[in-house]
Amino acid sequence: MGKEILVLTGSPRRRGNSDQLADAFIRGAVESGHRAHKFEAAYKNISGCRGCNMCWSSGTDPCVVKDDFYELAPLLESCEVSVFVSPVYFWGFTAQLKAAWDRFYAYGKPEGKKRFALKESALLLTLGDTEDATWRHAAGTYRDIAEYLGWKDRGIIAAKGVNNKMDIQRHEALGQAEALGRSL
Ligand SMILES: Cc1cc2nc3c(=O)[nH]c(=O)nc-3n(C[C@H](O)[C@H](O)[C@H](O)COP(=O)(O)O)c2cc1C
Repeated sequence: MGKEILVLTGSPRRRGNSDQLADAFIRGAVESGHRAHKFEAAYKNISGCRGCNMCWSSGTDPCVVKDDFYELAPLLESCEVSVFVSPVYFWGFTAQLKAAWDRFYAYGKPEGKKRFALKESALLLTLGDTEDATWRHAAGTYRDIAEYLGWKDRGIIAAKGVNNKMDIQRHEALGQAEALGRSL
């Protein structure tokens, strides 16, 4: 049976490099009978975590801040796999993805009261630079989050040397992302 997959993107650039990478992944996943739910954090209203810790005492609401995280939360509770997609911004993730990610706090054990369906994850990155050193922090952050939240890492793909929107079109990362989608 196919898996339900959350594809959480962070770029504010429409049809940019990371969006095309996300779509390549989705193509592969759909070909293999999976169902992908693309959630574009940059086009949603998701504010940063306020650190009030109310999500640790309430077992019902995922957050006291009633914004578009309420559209994302049901996907965290129904999808088995999550794929995070972001351009590298200053050696890290976009603020839009980070804001959504911080709100996962309600799901972190042992204090968080909410429970994920998520069991596996992957990371797709795009970056202008061609050095591996440039994406190592983003990869390290992702790996630590996956380990902390108990997800099995299914892989990281980095499309290096892409800046303009069309740069990714002949990049080998597109095929790698499609193959990753197919392999799940
Ligand atoms: C604010 C900002 C910060 C960036 N920081 C980096 C960086 O630290 N290293 C890098 O290699 N590229 C950096 N880039 C380039 C993007 O990662 C690159 O253009 C990427 O392909 C954009 O993906 P997108 O088209 O999906 O938005 C930055 C771009 C912006 C707009």
